[in-house]
Amino acid sequence: MYNSKITGLGYYVPDNVVTNNDLSKVMDTNDEWIRERTGIEERRHIIKGEDTTTSMGVKAAKIAIERAGIDKNDIDFIVFATLSPDYYFPGPGVLVQRDLGIGTVGALDVRNQCSGFVYGISVADQYIKSGMYKNILVIGSEVHSTGLDMTTRGRNVSVIFGDGAGAAILSREEDTSKGILSTHLHSEGQHAEELALIAPGMGKRWVTDIIDEKDSNDESYFPYMNGQFVFKNAVVRFSEVIKEGLAKNNLEATDINMLVPHQANLRIAQFIQKKFGLEDKQVYNNIMKYGNTTAASIPIALTEAWEQGKVKEGDLVVLAAFGSGFTWGSAIIKW
Ligand code: UT7
Repeated sequence: MYNSKITGLGYYVPDNVVTNNDLSKVMDTNDEWIRERTGIEERRHIIKGEDTTTSMGVKAAKIAIERAGIDKNDIDFIVFATLSPDYYFPGPGVLVQRDLGIGTVGALDVRNQCSGFVYGISVADQYIKSGMYKNILVIGSEVHSTGLDMTTRGRNVSVIFGDGAGAAILSREEDTSKGILSTHLHSEGQHAEELALIAPGMGKRWVTDIIDEKDSNDESYFPYMNGQFVFKNAVVRFSEVIKEGLAKNNLEATDINMLVPHQANLRIAQFIQKKFGLEDKQVYNNIMKYGNTTAASIPIALTEAWEQGKVKEGDLVVLAAFGSGFTWGSAIIKW
């Protein structure tokens, strides 16, 4: 039996900073509302033509590979989590294989929105635990800015989301007391439409509808979120899945050195912090700078925490996510 261990981390965000005041120029919103309700001060938006979900993922991946001290050709498998792929198909996993210029390794695309990175490392962890692969590249990357409703109609969603990418290398660890101890995944499709982008799809709104109708009043081409409903579910599910992970490993909240929650809303993270009685130094938040970058938020935050020396050898690190699907999950890691 093996464990998997995170041996390299990297992130990339576009240079273009969009402040709350910038948004207030194009829609009826203001800095005070956004800060109070979400904690967000600014986020990054790509410049069209400069970055894509894949290109940002590749940039983050190159840093993670270098820090893992492996050659790109040592990667046995790619997992790419995103809700904003460059193409409808194929997914970005194969584009990373091409753009990194590595051999014909397998590439898997994960469609689990805010929980995508946790789902991604869970899959990678199982491949490594089974002995099938030794080094797996897991990427979470998102471009939200090009698909948001930047009018007052879409303000409850558009002020929240930002662009960016994070990546991790998971490698085989022979000492099973170290690395990823367990992962816990859940879903509840009953609430699928409470946080969703319906079109274009092959379901309710076909791709041909866009061409036929060119209906600019059709909101199904923009993300929809029932904010309060999502918020209420998020606080419950975050708590449950963290508790589940701790219980599985006979651990208590006091054992946590660093909780890296998906950066959905600072108020959600603060609620969880209070609920588990954690001090500020035990929780890493950066939503203030980047907004909610869905699948990228945990790997960006984890990389920053690691770069700042807040995640060290022997630490107990907990990752937890909740989002569209609904899907949620946690990972319990002995660093
Ligand atoms: O990452 C995946 C998981 N996502 C989440 O967990 C997000 C969960 N939800 C939330 O974070 C919050 O529900 C929001 C930040 C989206 C909204 O905060 P809220 O406190 O739930 O506000 P609300 O939706 O109840 O709206 C309150 C008011 C409304 O006006 P009225 O009806 O009271 O007159 C909204 O129209 O705020 C208005 N509003 C805004 N005002 C200024 C909504 N968006 C904005 C805005 N600027 N951007």
